[in-house]
Amino acid sequence: MKSKPKLYENLVLQLRSLLAGERDFIANAANFASLLYHSLPDLNWAGFYFLQDEELVLGPFQGKPACVRIAIGKGVCGVAAAQRETIIVANVHDFPGHIACDSASNSEIVVPLVKDGRLLGVLDLDSPQYARFDDGDAEGLNRLVAEFMVLGFWS
Ligand code: SME
Repeated sequence: MKSKPKLYENLVLQLRSLLAGERDFIANAANFASLLYHSLPDLNWAGFYFLQDEELVLGPFQGKPACVRIAIGKGVCGVAAAQRETIIVANVHDFPGHIACDSASNSEIVVPLVKDGRLLGVLDLDSPQYARFDDGDAEGLNRLVAEFMVLGFWS
């Protein structure tokens, strides 16, 4: 397998080409979720929750059906949204208030989507492997999200 920086560098190029010339945000988010799910090893869920009326609502994703609404401050997604910080959870069963959507999930990373100082939602990845995500993933995913915030055409 490629080193993480190389893997994410390659994903940035693929994401740019997927988003090029397309202004539909939902379509772009759907392709971004699919790119991650099929390119990163050992995932069982990859997708978005978007902020709507002060709660997170399920957006495009790959994986099993998931809970639709998450309050800000609840679960890993809600805490990442409230803190506007990337959260890496090595063992979700140890995270107070973790929301279990797929019983196969054992670790998780959540990256907030912030554009021009405004919280738009979160990107959530789950893995059946414990401690699947590290700082290299946080760095790579934050780079991808930054590209998405510029090229994804949120309106
Ligand atoms: N585990 C998340 C809920 C979303 S699912 O993993 C897709 C959480 O605790 O916020």
